[in-house]
Amino acid sequence: MSSKAAKKKPRAPRVSKKLAKQPEKSVKGKAYATLVAELRSLLKGEYDFIANTANFSALVYNSLPDVNWAGFYFLKDEELVLGPFQGKPACVRIPFGSGVCGFAAKQCETVIVPNVHEFPGHIACDVASNSEIVIPLFDGERVLGVFDVDSPTLKRFDDQDAEGLNELVTVLVAHEEGLDQ
Ligand code: SME
Repeated sequence: MSSKAAKKKPRAPRVSKKLAKQPEKSVKGKAYATLVAELRSLLKGEYDFIANTANFSALVYNSLPDVNWAGFYFLKDEELVLGPFQGKPACVRIPFGSGVCGFAAKQCETVIVPNVHEFPGHIACDVASNSEIVIPLFDGERVLGVFDVDSPTLKRFDDQDAEGLNELVTVLVAHEEGLDQ
């Protein structure tokens, strides 16, 4: 290679206008990105399931504004059984399919409830709760349980919360399965 060619500056990558104009992350999106980074650092090198799910609950509960409960229910013999959480003491066992948690687990999908008083079969653990979001946890196709977050404010949760919380839960499950190594 000639010295002239060696000194040639690399050409800047071409970015199509369409790609370059991708919308910036919203304030909420950025907050969830920060939470994902914090979660990764909390999980780093630790594989105790109870410790990690307890810290996960504490991280979400103390970081999201306007939340009065955040925690796990794990599927055991057709029942969701209370796991690590933050907030007031909660009902310990929820039959698969019952309440918002059981519904989300059965449907295998995230459920956002703008007003829990209008959700048929809602299970009230804390009378202060007015809205709720429930994210199922999967091992492949199999439902392991759910992560539940409650708020005293009506319509507290939206699609960005669903996206952010799903990302957090996905990072947790991938870590527990050793897929992030
Ligand atoms: N509201 C949930 C029960 C769990 S508590 O909110 C902590 C439900 O309807 O499944």
